[in-house]
Amino acid sequence: MRITVVGTGYVGLITSICLCEMGHAVTNIDIDDKRIAQLKNGRSVIYEPGLQQLLENNLKERRLFFTIDPRIAYAQTDLIFIAVGTPENPDGTANLEYLQEAVYAIASHIEKDVIICTKSTVPVGTNEKIAEMIKDMTPTHLNVSIVSNPEFLREGSAINDFFLGDRIVIGTEDEKAAAVLQELYAPLNTEIMVTDTRSAEMIKYASNAFLATKISFINEIAAICEKVGADISQVADGIGKDKRIGSSFLKAGIGYGGSCFPKDTKALVQLAGHVDHPFELLEAVIGVNNRQHTLAVAKAKEAAGELAGKRIALLGLAFKPNTDDIREAPSLTILKMLIEENADVIAYDPAAVLNIQSIFGNEIQYTENINEALKDADLAIIATEWDQIIQFPLVQYEELMKTPLIIDGRNCYSLSDIERHSITYISVGRSPYA
Ligand code: UGA
Repeated sequence: MRITVVGTGYVGLITSICLCEMGHAVTNIDIDDKRIAQLKNGRSVIYEPGLQQLLENNLKERRLFFTIDPRIAYAQTDLIFIAVGTPENPDGTANLEYLQEAVYAIASHIEKDVIICTKSTVPVGTNEKIAEMIKDMTPTHLNVSIVSNPEFLREGSAINDFFLGDRIVIGTEDEKAAAVLQELYAPLNTEIMVTDTRSAEMIKYASNAFLATKISFINEIAAICEKVGADISQVADGIGKDKRIGSSFLKAGIGYGGSCFPKDTKALVQLAGHVDHPFELLEAVIGVNNRQHTLAVAKAKEAAGELAGKRIALLGLAFKPNTDDIREAPSLTILKMLIEENADVIAYDPAAVLNIQSIFGNEIQYTENINEALKDADLAIIATEWDQIIQFPLVQYEELMKTPLIIDGRNCYSLSDIERHSITYISVGRSPYA
């Protein structure tokens, strides 16, 4: 089977490379010639553990091809995965411009029967619109099937998630197309669900909205724990052991970020509004998350007073560990607030420094070395739980900082470890230690 994947972003590139690993030949197309040139040269355009090696292997095996030419990508292919971005419009709705461009290019170039499978996160009803667009543009003798196949990959563990996901959702009214996809995915040994198209589209939004809800819920419980003297890590552990609740996504912190939860929750609120059902619960989830992004600086001010002129080490910039992605990262809000306060900031991250630098330029200093960040600092704020930070010896905070004061937005350290040091430690949902 000849497979084409549209888009070399997160989902597109991971899908292409993992399908190659399963033994398929895959053509990955993008409109960005620079990205394609870089990928042809064997250099990944995204940071994802393990991906670079798989890219090199599959190029060498001649299973993986990159192109900007729609004729090469679409004319004779059997199966097309659309994995282009659906970024946020200013009003929170999903921007379907790239998707429409991709569908237009596909419709203009296909010469044989084909299955088009949408991996991009799209509002309910979009795949039906794709079907109409294709029908209007392609010769009637061509049989084009449309499938919604939402993606549940997490950045940082995307390859593992592709091969060992919890489920694969195939949304289509076309039984033959569903059978082709079931066969394609069968070797993964993951439960495959076949649903109608609209339900598959909804599963994606509802999954991300539910996970975001869990995070904002635990963050609210954490705020109350601080007031009543309970410990959020014990509370999360205790409620998570109830199988009906589950232990994952109960890690309190300074809020979720990334390219998915913020965008998809807003898009679902918009979608619900359009069908006259205001999604009040999800609106509150978003509100709580916005507040969480400001929490570290609020706590810093409470603990250290005026921040102007203070040297502040911001440890962790990526929206989560193992990625250089800073989209909607809490660090962006933290940096804006610190700059407004006229603090003297030095920002550390093992992977995301260049991305942050492209936004904040010389308004702050940067380092890829924790020791350098902490040297003579009045205060350290932890925004991402990188292993490098979790494993960093606490004694070094005492030795390097002017005043060892840590605002830990990700609860990286246990309170029993902290107690052995002369550090003022303020975390999330746990009693401060001074
Ligand atoms: C998320 C979903 O987990 C994937 O299933 C989905 O495919 C993806 O969005 C998408 O729609 O493409 P991702 O954004 O890569 O994946 O990252 P997550 O690991 O889910 O983390 C999202 C954010 O939640 C991070 O900022 C993380 O720090 C935060 N988080 C996560 C918490 O604050 N607490 C938790 O307990 C878990």
